[in-house]
Amino acid sequence: MQVAIVGGTGAQGRGLAARLAAAGVAVLVGSREAAHAREVVRALKEGHEGLSIEPATNEDAIARSDLVLLTVPFAHAAAALQASRERFRSGSVLIDVTVPVAFEKGVPRLVEVPEGSACEHLRRLLPEHVGMAAAFKTLPAATLATLDEPLDCDEFVCGDSPAARSRALELAAKIPGLRPVDSGELEAARTIERMTVLAIGINKRYRIRSARFRVVGL
Ligand SMILES: NC(=O)c1ccc[n+]([C@@H]2O[C@H](COP(=O)([O-])OP(=O)(O)OC[C@H]3O[C@@H](n4cnc5c(N)ncnc54)[C@H](OP(=O)(O)O)[C@@H]3O)[C@@H](O)[C@H]2O)c1
Repeated sequence: MQVAIVGGTGAQGRGLAARLAAAGVAVLVGSREAAHAREVVRALKEGHEGLSIEPATNEDAIARSDLVLLTVPFAHAAAALQASRERFRSGSVLIDVTVPVAFEKGVPRLVEVPEGSACEHLRRLLPEHVGMAAAFKTLPAATLATLDEPLDCDEFVCGDSPAARSRALELAAKIPGLRPVDSGELEAARTIERMTVLAIGINKRYRIRSARFRVVGL
């Protein structure tokens, strides 16, 4: 399985790259600048030489993968997708990780998106032949980054088709300690993105960095 991470040089992308590669997934860390991707991959591999992580430009990473994670700030997500929409393979799936959040005097607030969620907004920019799912939106980068810290949580996964959703569920299930929860259609991203904003607020109030979710009774 070859996975691309667009904006994989950032906090969330690096953590997901490390966790997925540790689970045996081949990962391409994408960047606007090949040199930045190389530098990040070198750092990720320090002490973990066996991990299958390679650097690439975002465009190349997309063209070489069937699953593409999007981990750029939401404000730049549309432009990033538009710049490389022609590079998506037929039948590939974009897994959106972005959360439309802004900080007002340190307080996290959801940025209202006309379509209802970041996912639904970005879906409109993708070619028809590309599936869309959401996952990894409520996972804190600080926890992802520490490979020996158990994740021990659930992750909500939704998608625009059963096929796209099941590809994202399958990928999330590869990460030890992470239980993917089938959350239904893409519209569920409206709730999932709000839950991330809730978690950021909890982190701030309790002075922690690792608030995340577990569904009980499942
Ligand atoms: N951090 C978290 O705990 C967390 C948790 C859940 C979800 N998320 C979501 O995950 C996404 C990434 O978060 P992050 O904290 O990793 O963000 P980040 O570190 O600020 O940025 C990630 C990467 O995006 C690329 N980027 C920055 N500006 C760009 C632009 N104008 N156009 C294209 N690419 C650009 C950069 O890569 P290059 O410079 O190498 O191109 C950067 O390394 C966000 O949407 C966030 O809401 C984050």
